[in-house]
Amino acid sequence: MTSAFRTLAVLGAGNMGSGIAQKMATEGFDVVLVDVDEEKVARGIGIIDRTLREAVDRGIMRADRTAAIRERVHGTARFDDLRDADLVVEAVFEDRALKQDVFKRLEAACRPDTILATNTSSYLVREIASAVKTPERVLGLHYFFHPAKNRLVEVIPGTATDPGVVRRAWALQEQLGKIPIASTDTSGFVVNRFFVVWLMEAIRMLDDRIANAITIDEIAKRTFGVGMGPFELMNVSGVPIALHASTTIGNAFGPLYGPPERLEKQVESREPWALGGTVDVSAEPTVSDRLMAGVFLAAAALVDEGVAMSYDTDIGARVGLRWPRGPFEMMNRRGTARALELVTALAMKWQMQVPSSLAELGKTNAPFLLEYVKSRPDNGVVTITVNRPDAMNALNETVGQQLAGIFTSMSRQPETTGVVIAGAGRSFVAGADIRFFIRSIERHEVARIEKLTEDLQAFLLAVQNCPKPVVARIHGLALGGGVELALACDYIVATPNATMGFPETGIGIYPGLGGTQRTTRRIGTGLTKWLVLTGQIISAQEALAIGLIDAVATRDELDAAAARLLAGGPSLERRPAAPPAAYQKLADFFTANDVEAIRQGTAKTGGDEQLEKAMKAVGTKAPIALRIAASLIDEGSRVPLEQGLQMELAHLREIFATKDALAGLLSIGRTRPVFEGA
Ligand SMILES: NC(=O)c1ccc[n+]([C@@H]2O[C@H](COP(=O)([O-])OP(=O)(O)OC[C@H]3O[C@@H](n4cnc5c(N)ncnc54)[C@H](O)[C@@H]3O)[C@@H](O)[C@H]2O)c1
Repeated sequence: MTSAFRTLAVLGAGNMGSGIAQKMATEGFDVVLVDVDEEKVARGIGIIDRTLREAVDRGIMRADRTAAIRERVHGTARFDDLRDADLVVEAVFEDRALKQDVFKRLEAACRPDTILATNTSSYLVREIASAVKTPERVLGLHYFFHPAKNRLVEVIPGTATDPGVVRRAWALQEQLGKIPIASTDTSGFVVNRFFVVWLMEAIRMLDDRIANAITIDEIAKRTFGVGMGPFELMNVSGVPIALHASTTIGNAFGPLYGPPERLEKQVESREPWALGGTVDVSAEPTVSDRLMAGVFLAAAALVDEGVAMSYDTDIGARVGLRWPRGPFEMMNRRGTARALELVTALAMKWQMQVPSSLAELGKTNAPFLLEYVKSRPDNGVVTITVNRPDAMNALNETVGQQLAGIFTSMSRQPETTGVVIAGAGRSFVAGADIRFFIRSIERHEVARIEKLTEDLQAFLLAVQNCPKPVVARIHGLALGGGVELALACDYIVATPNATMGFPETGIGIYPGLGGTQRTTRRIGTGLTKWLVLTGQIISAQEALAIGLIDAVATRDELDAAAARLLAGGPSLERRPAAPPAAYQKLADFFTANDVEAIRQGTAKTGGDEQLEKAMKAVGTKAPIALRIAASLIDEGSRVPLEQGLQMELAHLREIFATKDALAGLLSIGRTRPVFEGA
């Protein structure tokens, strides 16, 4: 077994290194930050201080928190100080020989089990790993500027990297609040590969006199829904960086990716791109089509070559570049037939192959599959991961269909002995997709909500009735539908930092995926009402204490704990055990009192502070949702589960027709709504 990460380290305290160290310290790790001399170290620490000060000034962080973060960063010029590091990220200058040299020194200075990562943008991980005797512990962790704020990280195993090292480094990124995507060890990895074509095509259009820079920027902003066009962006991030990236990627994949002469001249001039003049809207179709063609070609090539999955590429664009949609979502929206037309024209010009994935789908205008759900078999155990990390893995129609499809096919394979259900990124599953609910209500399509709920319920029953054991592996936030998904599994294991709850009645609805049914079968009606009617978010320890989950394990021990639970086989029917005294009081209160009396604050609490607090919480929730939820909990507990689930479905039309439901759903991320009871 491997120990948990405690001390992390960053080598190179420049723009990237200082930001990476800041993020690590922000998430509670001790960080050793190394640079060549005290002056460079001080400069790096200075960058952290400035960024933290900005965060305080902008009200994002409190001053005492930033002081604690700073205390966790230990600047040093001595490699010897790396001996306690569990993982080191190298972020020195982009120079191959230098990187190979520092990796040799890292290998000598660190423990044999320390993971060594490089943040290189343009070299291959295997080139850097070739310099050391232990390449199995070397991988690429490619962060994006600003690494304390941008959540994307590309995780790149080299040819010799141990899969266990990749898994541990991946889990650490999630612990750091990063959104990792997998890339193979190839020039430009995922995001820079299509991003560089976007930049280079913009420059070539300027060269071809199709439009001036400001026009190209403006059209790029509109087409891709971004805040800055390619020229403004190069001016901000550095024109030489664009030249460097396009040169290396161009060397690997041909001149479409490489720099036009115009870029080299611009770098020589040391001037930013001139953004004067006026915008010429007539250039829109040409500019827009060419930018899309370049991005689509490069993105489809990534899938053809197996560098990245289509959905991960989209995540890369959304999280790393802040595009509202990734290349594959864009192709699907415009139609792959149209995307194929654009790409074919560009490919002809450059005498390149049209990527076969696009050529195939484009023939019938069929969309690219976006992998909202991933599966990974490992020694008989299949881990199924909901993969919408930037939407907290919210459940929608596509996620539901893919989950059900993958679960059915994987669980039926004879070699599968058990299934683990997990979430990508920092959350497990943060419930159902609220935007889908809102859209459906506004378009008078509540039937779609009913259909989604019915389908998800059927999937959860399939999970529950699966003859092979299923474990929910909760490593972060699980809300509403997320908890309901977990409750359909035989066992639930959660990390100490995981939190769970049913926020539905606070947004005008009730849990409709078994939350009012399976919960009572685990913890009884009293505590179920406490959770559902108050919306109380509980910790993993509390959930364990009341019997809602089966085990708590640290992040590093989570897989082992899941495996132990799976070894127990499918669980039998559960009977709720008596809760600890503190919770018994809550259970009794919610059993003895009518929901209306609790809502109105007239139930007798005997002055008990905890009960008063719970009663007050209920008073802020939507009255109709409370009434339906309470009766579902009571009545459902007296009938077989399947019947109780049907009762949940039966009230959907009523609840989604209320004013409170729409007001509640629209209030998310804003101030708490005042419910009318209508
Ligand atoms: N800047 C970006 O947007 C970006 C994005 C992703 C990845 N990267 C990669 O991150 C790495 C660092 O880039 P940066 O922009 O932070 O560079 P930078 O020039 O700001 O910082 C590099 C730091 O490394 C230090 N350094 C050099 N040799 C060293 C040694 N032998 N030991 C310890 N420290 C040493 C330097 O003193 C400097 O502080 C590069 O590999 C770059 O390609 C950069």
